[in-house]
Amino acid sequence: MSMERFDALIIGAGVAGLNCALHLPEAMRVLVVCKGGLKESDSFLAQGGICVLRDRGDFQGYFEDTMRAGHYENNPFTVRCMIENSRRTIEELIALGVRFARDERGELRYTREGAHSRPRILFHADCTGKEITSHLLREAQRRSNLTLRPHTTMVDLLLAEEDEACLGAVLCENATGRVYAVRAGNTVLATGGVGGLFPHSTNYRILTGDGVGVCLEHEIAVDHADYVQFHPTSLYTAGHGRSFLISESVRGEGAHLLDREGHRFVDELLPRDVVTAAIYEQMRREGSDFVRLDLRTVEGGERTLKEHFPGIVEHCRKEGYDVFSAPIPVVPAQHYFMGGVRSSLSGRTTMPHLYAVGETCCNGVHGRNRLASNSLLEALIFARRAAEDIAAGSAARGEAAFDPAIYQIKQIERARRARVRKEIRRERK
Ligand code: SIN
Repeated sequence: MSMERFDALIIGAGVAGLNCALHLPEAMRVLVVCKGGLKESDSFLAQGGICVLRDRGDFQGYFEDTMRAGHYENNPFTVRCMIENSRRTIEELIALGVRFARDERGELRYTREGAHSRPRILFHADCTGKEITSHLLREAQRRSNLTLRPHTTMVDLLLAEEDEACLGAVLCENATGRVYAVRAGNTVLATGGVGGLFPHSTNYRILTGDGVGVCLEHEIAVDHADYVQFHPTSLYTAGHGRSFLISESVRGEGAHLLDREGHRFVDELLPRDVVTAAIYEQMRREGSDFVRLDLRTVEGGERTLKEHFPGIVEHCRKEGYDVFSAPIPVVPAQHYFMGGVRSSLSGRTTMPHLYAVGETCCNGVHGRNRLASNSLLEALIFARRAAEDIAAGSAARGEAAFDPAIYQIKQIERARRARVRKEIRRERK
């Protein structure tokens, strides 16, 4: 088997993989591979937006919204880290040329999605992910130290004898089936989520949890493999294939979910898992395959729909639905994976020299259910932190299991359980 050598190997070219590559020193030779085309990542599909801390006064609210949506199973240290780094991240994106919606005075505009106590989501029409990822990709293509290699599938990890460190990966060129090894000082898993394993998902079909799978095979810690998020509203179609998302920000701007009689049956801005459960229950009661979403109640009506959601309006039109004249059929679809390869605040896994970032990793930031529009932000921030950790050359030990933050979480969790036990005992008396 032939062997190539790089300083770092990044598997995945969504926002996490690209941002990690862009934050590695330009002196490092970096190979970025991805399974499909360079634009075939879920990051390109993200519609709603990207959260940001609006001002210092928003910290507690943003923190609480993220924790409440996650059923308080989040790692408070990663949540804090994400929120504190959010402004800087947005500024970096703007410096790269990313355009977010602005008002007449040129100030950033904020939209709202489910479970947010105030509008704090920046957006670019209904294609925020495409706007962000295409700028990162363009920048990555400009950098001479980065080699981008699409249509390349990871077959396995390359591990040192006794599995004490990751040395790179075994890759396969999709077109020819040629299998070869890449040896790298550090390897980063940024392979996205698991949606391709589900019949109805908003994810690209090629996203089949490859990073998680390879870690399970090599007994590298994976957490919460059952924490899968179903987005409440994808456009209903009878066939299989990728489901088209109807962004939660449509509901954030006033769209209503309706039963067969045209009545609302749930508060549309509750956390995703709650709204999804209510929709499934309504479908069960009606014996129907979908419920309806009325976009005509969006504040600002036709003008807002055309300005803020042109992609959704157009897609629905192509599918035969006129959002200006009638509700559209929607159904929940698999959307996001909150579990993943256990990783620290610096993206380290339990295997030395192996990192995991983005949807592939589980650093606990989302808890059991992700708050809307936290995914792009989380991926960007922790990918940058992984790059900084690699650059500092301090990844000689696999430390996720010994991360001080994770250690403290365990202590907090133990204390919480002790409190619950005490309460139960008190109630029994
Ligand atoms: C959406 O626009 O509803 C999806 C954004 C997200 O998953 O956070």
